[in-house]
Amino acid sequence: MTSNTAQQDAAVADKTILANRAYADGRHLAARQSIYRWQQPQYDLPGIVVEELANTSGTVIDVGCGNGKFVSRLHRDRPDLQVVGMDISAGILADVEKPVLVADAQALPFAGDSTDAVLALHMLYHVGDIEATIEELARVLRPGGVLMVSTNSDMDKRELGQLWARAAGEVLGIPEGPARVSLSSRFSLEKAPSYLRAAFKEIRVRGLPGTIDVTDPAPIIAHLASYEAWAEQCGVPFRETVDRAAEIAAGAIKADGSFKITCRGGILTCRR
Ligand SMILES: C[S@@+](CC[C@H](N)C(=O)[O-])C[C@H]1O[C@@H](n2cnc3c(N)ncnc32)[C@H](O)[C@@H]1O
Repeated sequence: MTSNTAQQDAAVADKTILANRAYADGRHLAARQSIYRWQQPQYDLPGIVVEELANTSGTVIDVGCGNGKFVSRLHRDRPDLQVVGMDISAGILADVEKPVLVADAQALPFAGDSTDAVLALHMLYHVGDIEATIEELARVLRPGGVLMVSTNSDMDKRELGQLWARAAGEVLGIPEGPARVSLSSRFSLEKAPSYLRAAFKEIRVRGLPGTIDVTDPAPIIAHLASYEAWAEQCGVPFRETVDRAAEIAAGAIKADGSFKITCRGGILTCRR
């Protein structure tokens, strides 16, 4: 397990990097989402959200909705709900089903006690002030309202971290290069419950363990390359490291038949 430097953590929560580079459009997010096609077992995350909201009526805000994977499923399966997609990036919202709005999770443009459910899926590790944002999510929820949060464990996809460190070491000519920037470590599955406990009485954690087994390096390389927005924080030439990682992964697949990645994600359902 590795953790970011303070400079890397600041870049992971830098709104300019997030809105203009990392999530200016859905390309990098889609690269990270698509690797789960090879995961066993498969989890239908939008389906889990639909299930958890079975007793919810009224308004649902998807905070940091990204490319709208959850928004579109809710529109399809729960047309009775008023679903609002919200993100800090105008670009990534272009193809998301309306209504959508550009706003910062740290200052939600909604009245107190106005919302029946809030989703904050794989996004709380990107906000500058995690505690204040959780207070803000709780503020807009009606009493009894539900918050759904997701994130990854500190141990998630550790093989990709090892692959990156080896490739970076070879590029720099040292035994092991700098660790890969971690997106989720600021609000990992291990840290999430204690953050959420400050504002939510009931917290249920559902782990989503699995294994990705690929026989083609392309999805691995697309995943590593999707961190391009944080290239300056990597401490190693980014493109060269991605290319070296592609060669190492191809060699491992040739030798072992496949490249295995351990996934440790989780989804939390919280009530005020
Ligand atoms: C990893 S993506 C997750 C997208 C989607 N929730 C999902 O799970 O597929 C993180 C999203 O949060 C957005 N985001 C980051 N910081 C934000 C903030 N302070 N307020 C609103 N959205 C933010 C990003 O622009 C990006 O679309």
